[in-house]
Amino acid sequence: MKVFASSDLPANALAPLRDYCDLDVWEHTHPIPAEQLRSRLDGCFGLLCLLTNRVDAPLLDGLAELQAVSSMSVGVDHIDVDRLTELGIPLGNTPGVLVDATADLTLALMLAAARRIGEADRFVRAGHWNVQRPWHPNMMVGKDLAGATLGVLGLGAIGQAVAQRAAAFGMRVIGWNRTPRKLPGVENVSLDSLIAESDVLSVHVALTDETRMLIDSNAIAAMKSDAIIINTARGGIVDEHALAAALNSGKLFAAGIDVFGQEPVAAGNPLLSLDNVILAPHIGSATEQTRARMAALAVDNMIAALEGRRMPHCANPEVYQQR
Ligand code: DGY
Repeated sequence: MKVFASSDLPANALAPLRDYCDLDVWEHTHPIPAEQLRSRLDGCFGLLCLLTNRVDAPLLDGLAELQAVSSMSVGVDHIDVDRLTELGIPLGNTPGVLVDATADLTLALMLAAARRIGEADRFVRAGHWNVQRPWHPNMMVGKDLAGATLGVLGLGAIGQAVAQRAAAFGMRVIGWNRTPRKLPGVENVSLDSLIAESDVLSVHVALTDETRMLIDSNAIAAMKSDAIIINTARGGIVDEHALAAALNSGKLFAAGIDVFGQEPVAAGNPLLSLDNVILAPHIGSATEQTRARMAALAVDNMIAALEGRRMPHCANPEVYQQR
């Protein structure tokens, strides 16, 4: 059986897969262009992909032999899951293993945004910290996290791990989830209250039709003045233009953004020119250990499908009921 992997994977994770199938691998670091993906998938049983590959209905509909898709990601918004389910094709993903790494990055961005770390770093490197501008009581002052209210938007595993870490920093934690979740140390509130009460709003919902642009200009206008927004979930959930306008006008104090509506971020993105936003290139899960675990899970999912077993981590388990 043929499997196409749209990238080599860390920690030599693809090696065991070669014992189960005829494996074809895209060897470049840039994503495979759509037309080439289509032709490389011809006659394939499986696709092992990354979040940089768009797996949409027109692609899937032309692939009669495709029987398994496994993505090295927990998020599956790059894939038409409904179409896969209609076709009875299981979709593997990698939940759980990236929770701590993503929660850590969320706290890193929160601290960096509140304490102006990006700005401070640029200030020192540029030689602006000099005898004319020595230490001063008003230099680079930020915000305390201790005593501030953190609003966690989405109380899944990553939101919960962020809540735990924030509690250790002395923050009051409130949370909103579509289905409220009773969690120690987290006060469930309505979405409106979450937006209105948060000093720091941290986004942890999946990108779906319901959450697209959930944090739009109206939501930002309803936030406290001087609040901070952190997004390590998906770019499409926060309106970047509204965010940039609020950061520019001083309505918001700062932001920490790891994910963008368009990735890699476009040169003209208004966030790039702002000092009070700390930016990262979608590195929530980027630790050696986490990436190795994600790669191993993605391969385990594909091996299970090749052996005719249920994928250990399946994003559309209903396909197994249909069989
Ligand atoms: C995922 O797996 O969906 C993450 O965004 C990768 O960091």
